[in-house]
Amino acid sequence: MRFLIDTFSPEAAKHILDYYPADGVTTNPAIICREKKQLKPTLMELREAVGDKMLHVQTMQTEADAMLDEALSLRDALSGCRFFVKLPCNSEGIKACRAIKSKGVGVTVTAVFSPMQALVAARAGADFVAPYVNKLEDVGEGLRCVKEIKELFDIHALPTQILSASFRNVRQVTEVALFGSHYATLPPAFFDKLVYHPMTENAVKGFEDDWQELYGDKKPIDLIK
Ligand code: E4P
Repeated sequence: MRFLIDTFSPEAAKHILDYYPADGVTTNPAIICREKKQLKPTLMELREAVGDKMLHVQTMQTEADAMLDEALSLRDALSGCRFFVKLPCNSEGIKACRAIKSKGVGVTVTAVFSPMQALVAARAGADFVAPYVNKLEDVGEGLRCVKEIKELFDIHALPTQILSASFRNVRQVTEVALFGSHYATLPPAFFDKLVYHPMTENAVKGFEDDWQELYGDKKPIDLIK
């Protein structure tokens, strides 16, 4: 499984890309509104931040024809990165998915809450489907949904990739990785949690204490001299 950053903050995106093996950025209208930034210049900054990596941006249009127009204009404005338009998994989104794919633009069908929605999106040509794991876990279905989407895609040899979103804890991320989700998109603050373990911190403290006791400082070993 690979990682994406769920954010509308170019600064946060740059920071995570500097530290972690992330393949790009996803965003959505809720995340955009939370940041309270100007839309167009911030999108441009995000494009700069991701370089030639992926950038998934959701349309706010509600009808298929308007979704297509917006997808084409976003694709043109954000050239240089690997752009994917995010479309909701409803009838207008599925219609738009087919039209947008026929124009050669990448599509992520989002707000997926059932395996059947994912199957229809895949048949419509979606590059990615985005199931909302934690939101569905509220009714005990999030992890099972990802597992069943993976089974359906494997059984029917569908190339669409699973981009799992909405997580509350690291265990959920581990579970979707075990089920074969291709991507997980995570808020910037989540990345440190992926690698944090108190026993690692204890081990590092032990190394430092031993070193301090023998050498009295933290200078690196000079292996050349
Ligand atoms: C999808 O684009 C988002 O990752 C998702 O809505 C985030 O879900 P959350 O609000 O449960 O974190």
